[in-house]
Amino acid sequence: MIRGLLLGIIWMIFFVCPSFQQEPTFVYNRFGQADDLHLDGSARIFTSGGVLQLTNATNIQIGHAFFKRPIEFKSSESVSFSTHFVCALLRAGDPSGHGMAFVVSDSTDFKGAEPTRYFGLFNRNGSTSTRVLAVELDISLAPELNDISDNHVGIDVNSAESVISANASYFSDKEGKKIDIKLLSGHPIQVWVDYVGTTLNVSLAPLKTQKPSRPLLSSTSINLTEILQGRRMFVGFSGATGSIMSYQYILGWSFSKSMASLPKIDISKLPKVPHTSTKKKSTSLVLDALLGLIAFMVLGLLVAAYLYRRNLYAEVREEWEKEYGPHRYSYKSLYKATKGFSRSEFLGRGGFGEVYKGTLPRSRDLREVAVKRVSHEGEQGMKQFVAEIVSMRSLKHRSLVPLLGYCRRKHELLLVSEYMPNGSLDHYLFNQDRSALPWWRRLAILKDIASALSYLHTEADQVVIHRDIKAANVMLDAEFSGRLGDFGMSRLYDRGADPTTTAAVGTVGYMAPELTTMGASTATDVYAFGVFLLEVTCGRRPVEPGFPAVKRFLIKWVSECWRRSSLIDAKDSRLTDFSTQEVEKVLKLGLLCANLAPDSRPTMEQVVQYLNGNLALPEFWPNSPGIGVLTPMALSPASLVIPSLSLSSSSSTNSMFITHSVLYGSGR
Ligand SMILES: *[C@@H]1O[C@H](CO)[C@@H](O)[C@H](O)[C@H]1NC(C)=O
Ligand SMILES: *[C@@H]1O[C@H](CO)[C@@H](O)[C@H](O)[C@H]1NC(C)=O
Ligand SMILES: *[C@@H]1O[C@H](CO)[C@@H](O)[C@H](O)[C@H]1NC(C)=O
Ligand SMILES: *[C@@H]1O[C@H](CO)[C@@H](O)[C@H](O)[C@H]1NC(C)=O
Ligand SMILES: *[C@@H]1O[C@H](CO)[C@@H](O)[C@H](O)[C@H]1NC(C)=O
Repeated sequence: MIRGLLLGIIWMIFFVCPSFQQEPTFVYNRFGQADDLHLDGSARIFTSGGVLQLTNATNIQIGHAFFKRPIEFKSSESVSFSTHFVCALLRAGDPSGHGMAFVVSDSTDFKGAEPTRYFGLFNRNGSTSTRVLAVELDISLAPELNDISDNHVGIDVNSAESVISANASYFSDKEGKKIDIKLLSGHPIQVWVDYVGTTLNVSLAPLKTQKPSRPLLSSTSINLTEILQGRRMFVGFSGATGSIMSYQYILGWSFSKSMASLPKIDISKLPKVPHTSTKKKSTSLVLDALLGLIAFMVLGLLVAAYLYRRNLYAEVREEWEKEYGPHRYSYKSLYKATKGFSRSEFLGRGGFGEVYKGTLPRSRDLREVAVKRVSHEGEQGMKQFVAEIVSMRSLKHRSLVPLLGYCRRKHELLLVSEYMPNGSLDHYLFNQDRSALPWWRRLAILKDIASALSYLHTEADQVVIHRDIKAANVMLDAEFSGRLGDFGMSRLYDRGADPTTTAAVGTVGYMAPELTTMGASTATDVYAFGVFLLEVTCGRRPVEPGFPAVKRFLIKWVSECWRRSSLIDAKDSRLTDFSTQEVEKVLKLGLLCANLAPDSRPTMEQVVQYLNGNLALPEFWPNSPGIGVLTPMALSPASLVIPSLSLSSSSSTNSMFITHSVLYGSGR
């Protein structure tokens, strides 16, 4: 009994256990050289990566990889198997190559098998002497083999012509629908092949997806014993290339005689798909080039932005300007203060340039400023001009518009002065409702300007000639007091060049007749102030080309009225609450200042006294010498344009001769 038991155990050890051990169940989570694999043709193992490669990018190749030992079934056993593998097909050129197959065969000798669409398993006559059941992953369309597409899976029995095939896809249990798979994507694909009885099921899925509940292919008429003509079989893979190629990789493989004992492939341990494909290379090249281009463009944009900003705020700053440091504004601050010289901040266009309102940060002593952009060519005389502009800062009089500082750019000078909220006088005089300018206010403004001009002529450290007295250059502050602006501006055009040309700065109608020949003097300022007196009192411009000849020139018209003993008729018809005596006095003073002979004009000091009533006007009449006479020769409207007067600065020449050019306000 015991002997019988022992014998039984010994029998089991010697006969049953080996048969258990022979049970070929295996799993490859990666491949190694020492593995039980039979390789031929182009098949090889990348030992570093653990990848099994069937073919490389070489023409007309066949690669076989088989489990070395055959799988044998006893006559008592039913023939069945389950396998699971992860493969990847990579493009190696265009058009793409041929696919690969999982193979069950009676031999590993495939003599007479052809590459290309025959997978290195079959030939055009069907099969070689080797009996084969194959599951093909086909990526080329062979019409003579009745392929359905260039992306299909088929079951082949001793022929490359599939007994059953389907476009590569998988049934997603999650989404409840079929999802297409691109075999030649380079991405790992899982394949399951299960055979029980006469049913062969094939399933596909992407790497991180469960085995689908429904197989892609299911054939119920596969008799493996019949196909192989035996119960002994080899399992493995075959791949081939032709004139077109692809890379065929197996990343992992498990096999068992039954589904229940099939070992699991550890997906996380699988090797990576080698990126040796020329296609990959070219796409990565393209990608690199693209990234490079993008990087280059971004860099270019940054540089452009930097250069733009640098250019935007570029200034001209020279050594000699250091001493004017406190009076120099940075262009950036002015740019920001004026919102980038925006139209919304535009105040007007004057004879010297455009004027913008600016709001400087509170840390500066003043919040609101007017910024005048004066374009200029060349740097000659700039030092002297800037010196004078800066020295103007020392001019302090309540009826002067304070100049605060400057900034210098290429071809441009920016002058910063106090902002006058009520704009320029001419705006009210000619455009707006004149109710803002009753006689008492006009008189006050005339007195303001007279005292400011008198200050410039006598009380300042040096004699400052304004050169451009006119209503457009008289600003009105918040209290509607008159403030003389733009003093010293004309110096920009008077840089020690030929005095006979540079002297001719000013505005037609206000320019003393001797200006072109003798140059600017305090007397020419007095002349212009005389015209200004008449302008404010009469509410019209000194020259009105559209008026009848007798009224056209203000000086002539006022003296004509006086001659007719109706001097008061020359006044602004809308003037209210005036004293005839005062108006007539101012008109006479205007004529006196605008005397043709410079020597006969009063000084500004005297003018102030006349206006304030501290001094009586001298006796004179409409036909006194020089009174009501414009020029030694008659001035005709045609000569209003004075082309002969060329200035040292060309750019602003034209605008300078626009009669009544507006400096503030009217541009709105
Ligand atoms: C491909 O494999 C063949 C055979 O193993 C070899 O001769 C050839 O050099 C390989 N080609 C490339 C591109 O690796
Ligand atoms: C196909 O069969 C023909 C005749 O049976 C034979 O001459 C030819 O060599 C075979 N071709 C291949 C590739 O085996
Ligand atoms: C397979 O795909 C091809 C093109 O991708 C298509 O023309 C063909 O109808 C599909 N066949 C089946 C059976 O779905
Ligand atoms: C094959 O798939 C069918 C469903 O299509 C299933 O009923 C059968 O059990 C499967 N057989 C094997 C061997 O997986
Ligand atoms: C398969 O074929 C063999 C031999 O042709 C036969 O003996 C066996 O019964 C067949 N098996 C099935 C399941 O039909």
